Amino acid sequence: MAGGSAPGKLILFGEHAVVFGEPALSTAIDLRAEVYVRPHAQWLADGMSLDEPRYRYVKAAARRGWSGEPLWFEIRSMIPVGSGLGSSAAVTVATLAALGSLGGTFDPVAIARDAFEVEHEVQGRASPIDTSTATAGGGVLVRRDVGEGLLWTLRRDTRTWSLHRCDLPPLTFVVGDTGIGAATGPLVAGVKERVDRDPRMGEVVREIGGITLDGLGALLRKDLVAAGELMDRNHGLLNTLGVGHPRLDRLVEAARRTSYGAKLTGAGGGGSMVALTDRPEETRRAIGAAGGRAFAVATEPDGVRRLP
Ligand code: MEV
Repeated sequence: MAGGSAPGKLILFGEHAVVFGEPALSTAIDLRAEVYVRPHAQWLADGMSLDEPRYRYVKAAARRGWSGEPLWFEIRSMIPVGSGLGSSAAVTVATLAALGSLGGTFDPVAIARDAFEVEHEVQGRASPIDTSTATAGGGVLVRRDVGEGLLWTLRRDTRTWSLHRCDLPPLTFVVGDTGIGAATGPLVAGVKERVDRDPRMGEVVREIGGITLDGLGALLRKDLVAAGELMDRNHGLLNTLGVGHPRLDRLVEAARRTSYGAKLTGAGGGGSMVALTDRPEETRRAIGAAGGRAFAVATEPDGVRRLP
């Protein structure tokens, strides 16, 4: 038997814009997925058929990362599904790590590349931010050009993403889950349609890219007031791109009273919002009172791991 483990993620700035090649900033969080694998007479996941839709990332990862006999997978994940916290990416990365371990290899750069390909195959248009954050752990800055702290560069059609290690200061976040599951693929496709139809949407995408770099600067100099204001602006622009939801707005509004700023995180359309706060208990209660399932998360330095 072999196993792999990978963390979920929070996008702090730049989701959706990153798919167009704009910068984005994310951090791994202390909610992890674990996948165990062992040879078996049939292809199964948790004792069920690998053809079940919920195992499509595991199945695609197995096709890419394994050419031997059938396998039995066991998946254990603390990351809520469809909530914008990178559950599919973490399961994909953990599966590839488990398969690599079983075959006697463990190469995080290859895992990041394969996981991005798997996400593309299953989800459609995507950026590597989720899969690379699940692989690298810690803070990750994605941008087109290469800078200090380069982890790896990934390409697809005309787009290039260079993934960088980013040493964020310790920060406290509260996540509010709307409980509305939203699939990432259709949301990403919807934004592309809007951008293709309306040149002003292209401007919005570029503005989000600028906010990401300003937000990174604010966080690095520990100016949480400025970072929070930029999160608020990023949230408004995501609404303009059509990936908001009234329930997300309600949770964001409730959180802002006790936090520096708040925004939806991940693909939107439901899913989760994140607040940057130094009053996590009050923020958690405020989001809860507004109807969200709220919990504090810590940043997670560890990326993909092999499990014994
Ligand atoms: C989803 O967590 C992040 C998006 O930007 C999609 C992607 O980057 O693939 C919405």
